[in-house]
Amino acid sequence: MSFPEGFLWGGALAANQCEGAYLEDGKGLCVPDMILGGDQNTPRTICKIIQEGKFYPSHEAIDFYHHYKEDIKLFSEMGFKILRLSINWGRIYPHGDDLEPNEAGLQFYENVFDECLKYGIQPMVTLSHYEMPWHLVEKYQGFYSREVIDFFIKYAKTCFQRYQHKVKYWLTFNEINAGTMGDPLASLMGLGYMTKEDLQREQPCSFDELKDNPQQRYTALHHQLVASALAVIEGHRINKNLMIGNMISHITWYPHTCHPQDILAWQQKDALFNDFCADVQIRGEYPNYMIAYLKNHQIDLSYILETDLDILKKGTIDFYTMSYYISNCVSADPHAEHIGGNLVGGVKNPYLKASEWGWQIDPLGLKYTLKAVASRYPHIPIMIVENGFGAVDKIEKDGSIHDDYRIEYFRAHIQAMSEAIDEGVPLIGYTSWGPIDIVSAGTGQFYKRYGFIYVDRNDDGTGDLSRYKKDSFTWYKKVIETNGEEI
Ligand code: BG6
Repeated sequence: MSFPEGFLWGGALAANQCEGAYLEDGKGLCVPDMILGGDQNTPRTICKIIQEGKFYPSHEAIDFYHHYKEDIKLFSEMGFKILRLSINWGRIYPHGDDLEPNEAGLQFYENVFDECLKYGIQPMVTLSHYEMPWHLVEKYQGFYSREVIDFFIKYAKTCFQRYQHKVKYWLTFNEINAGTMGDPLASLMGLGYMTKEDLQREQPCSFDELKDNPQQRYTALHHQLVASALAVIEGHRINKNLMIGNMISHITWYPHTCHPQDILAWQQKDALFNDFCADVQIRGEYPNYMIAYLKNHQIDLSYILETDLDILKKGTIDFYTMSYYISNCVSADPHAEHIGGNLVGGVKNPYLKASEWGWQIDPLGLKYTLKAVASRYPHIPIMIVENGFGAVDKIEKDGSIHDDYRIEYFRAHIQAMSEAIDEGVPLIGYTSWGPIDIVSAGTGQFYKRYGFIYVDRNDDGTGDLSRYKKDSFTWYKKVIETNGEEI
């Protein structure tokens, strides 16, 4: 086993999925606050106005807002070196376009970071993890409006200035490539974007009834890429020691067969989904294949301004990060059997098993992915900032939870990381997803649990929020203690 000295072991959370306290201390409504839960078979529902009597999973979530001291203590018991969390934009600028930041929100995160530092855990911050203030969606259609770049930069500068001496590692946007998917839930969460027609619809409205508009979506994604680059420039201007990274939802794709048509279909999918945004953020320019793709799909590129090109060139990131959960296949055959996945599904792989949510489990795919990313971008370090197993856990009468399936998932993925490191991959850290049970982003469920720590909270809103250690808690503690020697 070969994890380098100082390897950053830890966990990752998103504010909207754990904090709750959705209107406390001056926070404004943000995108997830407007979304009802669903399940494996039922898409989530968007509501323009909060509906009385309906259960919104993010409103209380697991109440990290009031339990953060207890939770960070548990993370420190596992030996975390790093904790990735997001700042909820709506706690700092409740409407997004406010003139002044909300001091109570700023103070809350300062307290959280101090609590981490007290235990020697370094906080890593995602500036935007699906948490755009709802007002920016309603008034501006999120990043579809260029003005939203300025609001984001104002927010980013406020955070850099305030926390520069407490936080070294920053990520601009969680899974920025969500904007390439064309899935209305992914577009709303990632870009804060909905079409005008959908915004004007009678709501509540199920996400499978909403429409995509590729011209507007790619415009919004471009603005988001510019916002990301500007944030890197501003962050480095404020403090040149900050390490500012991107974050890609890495769904690893394989050709379904070696038929040349499948190979071409796979190549296209991989380029659009995994490479495009990272290429812009790392190489500082739009790749030729993407310009050609957009033109071939009748996208009018006049939204790319000359001045943007300069910003993209200057605002390249310092390290590459990704989420990795699954792999899927790509086939040129429209009748190939499909399977679900993280916001976007793919073609079933006959060699892989899947979770209860249809997510294909592929640890070797992680080794392949790390090697592929390292050879594409050889000059920057890599961090895996999300990886984990969503499953149903059973709590025994004595409060124990025997989650061997989760241990098995982590063991295989950590083994894959160690082999990748042995083969030259500059991996510097690993933050498992949801080290404590939180709300699922895709379905809004609590029933789908990721944590090493169980939270007594259910999909009907019952549960007293007590925390319990699962078997995986002790296991992960050992992994960290031995720097990955014992898995
Ligand atoms: C990632 C997101 O795509 O997947 C997280 O960044 C999300 O916010 C995670 O929670 C797991 O997905 P889900 O739908 O199981 O919560």
